Amino acid sequence: FSARRPVIAGNWKLNPKSIAEASQLLKLLHANFVNHRTPAQLDVEVVVFPPFPFLLEALLVLQGSGIKVGAQNVALQTSGAYTGEVSAPMVRSIGVDYVMLGHSERRAIFGESDADINKKLHLCLAEPGLGVILCVGETEDEYESKLLASVCDVQIRKGLKGVSISDLSRIIIAYEPVWAIGTGKVATPEQAQVAHTVIRNTLTDMYGYQAADSVRIQYGGSVNPENVDSLMSMPDVDGALVGGASLTADAFTRIVDGA
Ligand code: G3P
Repeated sequence: FSARRPVIAGNWKLNPKSIAEASQLLKLLHANFVNHRTPAQLDVEVVVFPPFPFLLEALLVLQGSGIKVGAQNVALQTSGAYTGEVSAPMVRSIGVDYVMLGHSERRAIFGESDADINKKLHLCLAEPGLGVILCVGETEDEYESKLLASVCDVQIRKGLKGVSISDLSRIIIAYEPVWAIGTGKVATPEQAQVAHTVIRNTLTDMYGYQAADSVRIQYGGSVNPENVDSLMSMPDVDGALVGGASLTADAFTRIVDGA
């Protein structure tokens, strides 16, 4: 038996194209969660991660729906001469509940290191009430070379460096194998369970059994309404981080209902 509350998050990435489209999606989500509230929607923590320009709109439109709002990234600094950046205090000040850090796209495309991610994580933890989803996961080559365990272990240790046991409760881990992201090639429930066990073992080594047992670990990578149930039937899969299927209110709602 696990007391971990399931958590489903939608990562919109660089979508949709306009505030009009974002607003439309948010209104449909609001309607789904307010007018047709299901037991699953009450049991599950739900968070959406729109791009920065849509965060305020998301906070406004989703009021009363129970759906929380997160930011997809924050700067390595909190203020000053850093043109184009958005800080952790800024997003917290508008009411954002979570920040996502360490997504494989940020690591691979924008060159973020584990040290960068760790620095950002501490800036988020300095903001009272702000939670973090820390993403980890191996590439296809690493998977083929049987490096899943060592890659995830290192990303967790370096990502969480210096994080106290009391702050651990503010952190959700998302396991996203890079080969499963946007490919339709979802990990099998058994593959996900193996990876989540590796991650929980690392957390146990760092923080002890009790603290590690209470950390929620999401699976991400080609999650859809059809496969979420079998993934989440695994003992260490506590939720899902959804990309493509979070851009349709109907699919995302069905994923929450299936969780
Ligand atoms: O962060 C979620 C994401 O990387 C998974 O994307 O489209 O495979 O669900 P997708």
